[in-house]
Amino acid sequence: MRRIGILTSGGDCQALNAAMRGVVKTLVHSGEALEIYGFLDGYKGLIYGNFRMLTGADFSGILTVGGTILGTSRTPFKTIREPDENGLDKVEAMKHNYYKLKLDCLVILGGNGTHKTANLLREEGLNVVTLPKTIDNDLWGTDMTFGFQSAVDIATNAIDCIHTTAASHGRVFIVEVMGHKVGWLTLNAGMAGGADIILLPEIPYDLDKVVAAIEERNRRGSRFTIIAVAEGAISKEDAKLSKKEYKEKLKKRTSPSVAYEIAEEIQKKTGREVRVTVPGHVQRGGSPCPYDRVFASRLGSEAGKLILNGEYGFMVGYKNREIVKVPLEEVAGKLKMVSPDAAIVQEAKLLGICFGD
Ligand code: F6P
Repeated sequence: MRRIGILTSGGDCQALNAAMRGVVKTLVHSGEALEIYGFLDGYKGLIYGNFRMLTGADFSGILTVGGTILGTSRTPFKTIREPDENGLDKVEAMKHNYYKLKLDCLVILGGNGTHKTANLLREEGLNVVTLPKTIDNDLWGTDMTFGFQSAVDIATNAIDCIHTTAASHGRVFIVEVMGHKVGWLTLNAGMAGGADIILLPEIPYDLDKVVAAIEERNRRGSRFTIIAVAEGAISKEDAKLSKKEYKEKLKKRTSPSVAYEIAEEIQKKTGREVRVTVPGHVQRGGSPCPYDRVFASRLGSEAGKLILNGEYGFMVGYKNREIVKVPLEEVAGKLKMVSPDAAIVQEAKLLGICFGD
């Protein structure tokens, strides 16, 4: 009898269900007797012992369903060692429930924060296999995370829709794309949507350069400009501030987000009409795109294989077009960021896209 605990943690994304289905189908297909404990709302379920007993049938019919059938929540790694409001030691509680239920392993689906805690549980002696989810595609150790391509499709569609109205009115349009620390989503959706200017957290912008790019387009006869801005885009001046100073500055921000701040400045400097569109959590919602359905299913089945072989302590990732197992200690605590020197950035620049740098 194999006893598996499974949970999804952190912000949700498309194809979480597809990935879990992949794991469970592989295990069921092996013919081994199986007990599945689905922990509810991420690590919270493991900490407080909230779970549902599941069977293979629970994972049927969910390939195309967005979100997660287990629910999710954020359990910050920063405070994982701090007792909860009732004095409960969260790490000990997770270990206690794992051993109480006599689990053979935990399957954990999540992004960066989730992987730090997963690695901690591994260090504490639990058997863990993880799967890389996030629309941000910023997880170290894998070229691709599931959820990313679906979000690129949605953000691109938003830019496509904005294109026609921007062209009709001759306006500057800013589309704010998700990604506080990392700009993969903005970069890809921006390029796919034909954005003229792309502003990323990794490449601090100079507003004068952004304005110059808008004016140059106008001189060349283009009446409109599309700017794809990541949530975490930062100006060159702000990039010089310490983390603490920048956080303080953000607290005093009067506009709802960076896109509105940039819009206001562009309007002031150019006198042009500027509009902002924020697709927000729409980018994380709905059915996974076909790529993600296949990708998550593949990762899931490889995770199932690892479990059947008793190989633990790995994230199943994707490197150089192959599914690989990556030791959790290599993944935890690192971000995969867009390098300003990356080929894709250089190619975008050759196309005439302005990064404001
Ligand atoms: O980590 C994924 C992500 O969607 C980011 O791109 C975004 O900045 C953040 O989560 C939003 O978090 P929340 O859903 O907690 O508002």
